[in-house]
This record gives sequence, structure tokens and C-alpha cells, in this order.
Amino acid sequence: MTYLFKKAAVAMAASCALLLAACGGGQEESGAGSEDKKVLNVGTEATFAPFEFMDKGEVSGFDVDLLNAAAEEAGYEVDIQNTGWDAMLAGLQSGQLDIGMSGITITDERKETYDFSVPYFESVTMIVYKEGTNIAAAEDLKGKKVGVQNGTTGQFAAESIIGQNNSSISKYETAALMFQALQSGDVEAVVTDIAVALEYEKSNPDAGVKTITDDQFAPEYYGIAFPKGSEYKPEFDEALNTLYENGTYAEIYKKWFEEEPDMETLKQ
Ligand code: ARG
Repeated sequence: MTYLFKKAAVAMAASCALLLAACGGGQEESGAGSEDKKVLNVGTEATFAPFEFMDKGEVSGFDVDLLNAAAEEAGYEVDIQNTGWDAMLAGLQSGQLDIGMSGITITDERKETYDFSVPYFESVTMIVYKEGTNIAAAEDLKGKKVGVQNGTTGQFAAESIIGQNNSSISKYETAALMFQALQSGDVEAVVTDIAVALEYEKSNPDAGVKTITDDQFAPEYYGIAFPKGSEYKPEFDEALNTLYENGTYAEIYKKWFEEEPDMETLKQ
């Protein structure tokens, strides 16, 4: 310790003695007044990297960073739990959850049951298949064993080609189980969201998979989901718009996707 530094430390200790409460508060991560912040209950299905996945027992990912930033902006704290997909949707319907943050695509049908924030990410459906499987276009899913995450737009996309209630489609509770089925050979292809497909391909270089998308898959937009009539929706819309304007969204986007976001796609 240099002399000057020591002197400063002594001076700081002295003022801490005078201002005990203030210095004590400074030790904590969140500043004074944070106890007053309302904690919102958030559900997710955390096997959907890079949007949400478990990292050392914590839910991590693009969605987590974005939601934390939006909550901070709106003056809330969020408690994000890996509830699973179905429980998340049920929790939103019953009002037990305040927010669903899970790469959830805004669809007209879902809008009947939930409220959504302004869009925060553009996505499109992608097919991930085992090398050697003859798939050059979406139509080639016909006659193949296909895996999807139950109740997702990947399922709806697969059904739009193969048909509903077709036994060649296997539905899995989580995105992780869907990818495991591809790995083990239980299915020949899975249908999921582009960024998740590319992340899987990148982080499993030995899995021997290929990815393809198709013009017949329309762009989709993710939104934060709320129970119908939620008071929080307008506040989070405003917060998201602030993050779009002040560059925070772009920063979070670059951290996870290593490129600049196309902000135009979010203005629709
Ligand atoms: N975007 C798709 C949908 O809304 C898939 C979302 C799946 N999310 C997840 N965390 N597993 O249906």
C-alpha cells in the first residue's frame, strides 16, 4: 500500500464512521431505495441459448440482460425463474407470473391470451438436420422424423408442412430435449428459431448437423409477454424504446450476437 493510498483509506474510514449508514449502503450492489422496488415474477424456459440458458445455477442470456435493463429503466426488479415453457404460459394466464421472457414469438393467436411488449428481436424458423439427411427445402420435412419443442412456432411451422397430428412429428417439453433427440437419432431434423439453431451448430461442432431456412417461413418477432391487461406492459414498452434509443439495446445485442443490430426491423 502506498503512503497516499493509506492516507486516503484512513480518511475514508473516518468519514464512514460519521456516515455509517451511507457507507454501509454503498457496500451493497444496489443503492439505497432499492428495497422499495417491486419485484416482478418472471418465468422462462432456460434451454434456449443464446436467449436463456442455465449458467452456474443462474438464468443467463440475451433475454436476461435485456429484461434486466428494461426493468431497471422502468423501476422494477425481476426474479427470473426457469419455470419451463408450459408452466410459464399457465403462470401468465393465472396471473401468478408478471412476465414471460423466453424468446416468445408475438402471434395473433397468442395475442388473444397474453399482452406483448413492442417487438425486441426478429427471428425466422430454421431446420437443423443430421448431415446425410436429404433436406434441401422445407418441403423435404415430409416423410422425415421431425422434432419440435411443444407449443412453439417451430411446431406450427413443421405442422404447416407435414400436417397436424402427424406421428412423424415428436414434441418435446424443452428445446434441450428436442436437440438431444436429434443427437441420439430419434429424429432426423428439428425445427426451431434461427439464432438458437445457429448457436447449437456453433457450440456442437462435432454433432454433424447442418442448418437451412426457407422463404416460406415468415419473419417472426419476439416480445415480452404479460398477463392480459397488465399494468406493466406500457411501462416496459417505454423502457424498451428508451433502450433502443440510448444504445443500451445495441450494446446487449453486440455482447450476444457479435454484430450490430438492425434497428429498422424493430420499428414496425
Ligand atoms: N419463438 C418460439 C415461440 O415463441 C420458440 C420459443 C421457445 N423458447 C424457449 N425458451 N424455449 O414459439
